[in-house]
Amino acid sequence: MVTGIGELVTCDGDGDGGPAGDSGLGLRTGAALVVEGGRIAWIGDAAEAPPADRRIDLDGRALLPGFVDSHSHLVFDGDRAGEFAARMTGERYDGGGIGVSVEATRAASDERLRELVGARVAEMRAQGTTTVEIKGGYGLTVVDEARSLRIAREFTTETTFLGAHVVPPEARGDRTAYIELVTGPMLEACAPHARWADVFCEPHSPHAFTEDESRAVLTAAGDAGLELRVHGNQLGPGPGVQLAVELGAASVDHCTFLDDADVEALVGAADTTVATLLPGVEFSTRSPYPDARALIDAGVSLALATDCNPGTCYSSSMPFVIALAVREMGMTPGEAVWAATRGSAKALLRDDIGRIAVGGPADLTVLDAPSHLHLAYRAGVPIARTLSTTPPASE
Ligand code: NIG
Ligand code: FE
Repeated sequence: MVTGIGELVTCDGDGDGGPAGDSGLGLRTGAALVVEGGRIAWIGDAAEAPPADRRIDLDGRALLPGFVDSHSHLVFDGDRAGEFAARMTGERYDGGGIGVSVEATRAASDERLRELVGARVAEMRAQGTTTVEIKGGYGLTVVDEARSLRIAREFTTETTFLGAHVVPPEARGDRTAYIELVTGPMLEACAPHARWADVFCEPHSPHAFTEDESRAVLTAAGDAGLELRVHGNQLGPGPGVQLAVELGAASVDHCTFLDDADVEALVGAADTTVATLLPGVEFSTRSPYPDARALIDAGVSLALATDCNPGTCYSSSMPFVIALAVREMGMTPGEAVWAATRGSAKALLRDDIGRIAVGGPADLTVLDAPSHLHLAYRAGVPIARTLSTTPPASE
């Protein structure tokens, strides 16, 4: 039994689809909950709690659903700190650095990649993330993409085929042949290890994919039984959002440059397609932030994620993302928490996670603070961590 909960945030309140304000947070005080076999067995007033054989007293701390990080690229070797530093003094990001990470990743052993991914997942857990989506995309050969996903699968069921991240150097002379590789043998080798397929649809990068190329990749992946997501509208206005909506993708991610028609399409598709905002990317690329306030007010369904990757955001921290969302994108702290949990679960077509509900998994995050407001208020302070409810080995 978990007691002493200063504020319980269930993200299971009234309102759905990214409610404005706090209506979806389901805030409770004086609550306790019981966990049995890794599942939530009971939630109610502490005064009415049933007997339990073990107690965890949170001493007034806030308890939240574990963060759901629905967008990350954790399978890579090397880093690109120099590229980041150059951007801070005025260089623009155009996706060209991805090739540097591809070279380093291809050269890494399976064992090394496994260690790197494991360390990054542990870093996320230590900051309150309980579910992570992991993409490939730094292999870009049949063998290297399949092994990236095989390794990612050791850490999560939410794995994403991203053979269409960029056109790799050896394929630059013949883009059509590369699309045939991605939609043919690469997809076939990767599909058994992936739940999702994604594409970097970006006319503003010479390395990424056009609308037609992206449609071809996503259609083939959908035919192979994968669920769809899209990198869209990151570097400038573009076709990504409309394509995601057209194909019924669960999420379109970045959404940094949207026009009125994009917003209208996202409002119309709010039940099926989530707009996942990745403000760590705007921070790390010196791009303007998307206007989350306007999107929420229009009725778009929003999620927040880190996009943890070596190029545009080497941060694994959902609390950092929440703080940016509040400070830079006009979200309330409650809306940001909701988007980082329930909203992000929706972007993964998951109803079981991202909320604290009886019968659901005990994916819990505790704050060294009395309320969720502190996530943005105490930005940069490591107050969030996952709460382990499994008994110590000695019991
Ligand atoms: O989501 N935009 C494409 N992919 C990543 C960046 C990858 C990289 O630069 O290494 C992103 O921003
Ligand atoms: Fe990404």
